[in-house]
Amino acid sequence: MKAWRNRRIVITAGPTREKLDPVRYLSNESSGRMGWALAEAAQQKGARVTLVAGPTALPSPKNVTVFLVRSAREMLAATRKAARGAHAVIGAAAVADWRPIAVSRTKLKKSQAPPILKLTPNPDILKTLARERKGPFPRLAGFALESTNLLANAGKKMKEKKLDLVVANGPNALGKETTRAWILRPGLAVEEFNGNKKILARQILSRLLESVKSHER
Ligand code: C5P
Repeated sequence: MKAWRNRRIVITAGPTREKLDPVRYLSNESSGRMGWALAEAAQQKGARVTLVAGPTALPSPKNVTVFLVRSAREMLAATRKAARGAHAVIGAAAVADWRPIAVSRTKLKKSQAPPILKLTPNPDILKTLARERKGPFPRLAGFALESTNLLANAGKKMKEKKLDLVVANGPNALGKETTRAWILRPGLAVEEFNGNKKILARQILSRLLESVKSHER
């Protein structure tokens, strides 16, 4: 039953916050639920689980090591460290695409003219792990949230980020307990899923375990 026994998995979850000044930030609507569901399911399947989480309202899952982070760069550093020696990493976080180029050390004043925000791209966590991977581990899984050409774009993302598994879903999955999703793996048929995120989490983990096992000797 404990299919993931003796294996370690790292999961990123939640949004990131990109500071503008000491009290303001850019972020997104991610609830962290999908990442939490994955962490709980992996723990139940016997894995040692590290959850690298941006700010959410969710309580820490039981028997899971949690690293709380804020920005994308903090998430990258924590994930990189945790991923050493792990069998798999799932990127379920909604990492902010950009951060302000400059962070004001003092609160921006309302009495000043409205600031013009200059943004710079954040590092891609999964892409960085794929680039730095020596050998087959960690196996890498990610999500593709697309509003148009879902499967084609998800397939493209899988190639670009060199992922071993991609879960594609539409924007209406955000913040909900259920979702319609497709699981893509290189060279294998696409699988459709419709239902609770907790059940989706179990399905993702069993597919990812197949990928882990196929590279174990
Ligand atoms: O490129 P996009 O944001 O659509 O990719 C989504 C997938 O990539 C998710 O699995 C997400 O966790 C991961 N990602 C990441 N680092 C980023 C942006 C996205 O790991 N900076």
